Amino acid sequence: MIRSVVRGYGAALPKRVMTNKELETLVDTSDEWIVQRTGIRQRYIAGDDETTASLGEQAARAALDNAGLTPDDIDLVLLATSTPDNTFPATAVNIQNRLGMTHGYAFDMQAVCSGFVYAMATADLHIRGGMAKRVLVIGAETFSRILDWTDRTTCVLFGDGAGALILEAAEGEGTVADRGILTSHLRSDGSHKEKLYVDGGPSTTGTVGHLRMEGREVFKHAVGMITDVIEAAFEATGTTAEDLDWLVPHQANRRIIDGSAKKLGIPPEKVVVTVDLHGNTSAASIPLALSVALADGRIKKGDLVMLEAMGGGFTWGAVLIRW
Ligand code: ACO
Repeated sequence: MIRSVVRGYGAALPKRVMTNKELETLVDTSDEWIVQRTGIRQRYIAGDDETTASLGEQAARAALDNAGLTPDDIDLVLLATSTPDNTFPATAVNIQNRLGMTHGYAFDMQAVCSGFVYAMATADLHIRGGMAKRVLVIGAETFSRILDWTDRTTCVLFGDGAGALILEAAEGEGTVADRGILTSHLRSDGSHKEKLYVDGGPSTTGTVGHLRMEGREVFKHAVGMITDVIEAAFEATGTTAEDLDWLVPHQANRRIIDGSAKKLGIPPEKVVVTVDLHGNTSAASIPLALSVALADGRIKKGDLVMLEAMGGGFTWGAVLIRW
């Protein structure tokens, strides 16, 4: 059977770092409060010359270099983002153009913080369905542009950045020993809309709007939803938490990450955490975390890696990969 195997990775961060100390000068908060409640110590903020497309392009080029490929080798550019450069055309098409591609196809995927997991599952279907041989899967965000910088309950949590993976079609045996995506599980429930949303949009206010969140309500649902979908991935593959080499969670909040890992019986040394460095970069957070753990040699070829995310919608999902 055809499997979607990871061939390369890349990441990009804005030039500007914003520490918790700097946030203390903007809103009534403290480094101590932010670190204790979230684990975040700093985040990156896009400058005027940096956009979702420019960061996405940079991450894509890094992934192509890492894979030893060129844009000519890519059939599909799939971008997960909730902060597109324009309402339309899709920012993925913008990135495709920036890469000099006039072949293939490109589109955006919008599932907020679960965007990268949704994009990986979708790319896998395009590869296994024979539509594409190689897919550039990108998560890129500029959440700084939709934050209310006077609202301390949200502006301290998010950051900007991009990460990318290249998935490639390869023959597998159909067992969990195969390299590539082994299973994907996606969920959504729109009854939770009011707990995490942006209060604007082209069809309603005609404005971009700002992120609004009931943090405690999100927290209350997060661990249960995340663990449910990870357990579904274990069940579908006959694997267990003990078989896992790495859990690479969406980097929203240290307490959500720790709570989910504990409930699943995954020891902290198998969990990749970068929320301290990047804050919550929404759809970019998983590929950014992967890029750190791949660059420092933690994740190796053959490792069993679980990606998971939960976010606005609510949406949530998990993807199990043999690296
Ligand atoms: N600095 C200082 N004090 C603050 C800040 C801040 N930045 N923000 C809120 N507070 C205050 C509140 O006003 C409140 O004060 P009060 O008691 O006088 O009313 C107090 O701190 C406690 O507020 P809570 O909201 O109860 O704090 P909590 O412990 O729940 O932590 C947090 C808030 C960090 C947002 C938490 O609820 C959380 O992590 N929720 C998950 C949300 C999340 O991660 N969303 C990301 C998007 S979704 C996703 O990616 C999964």
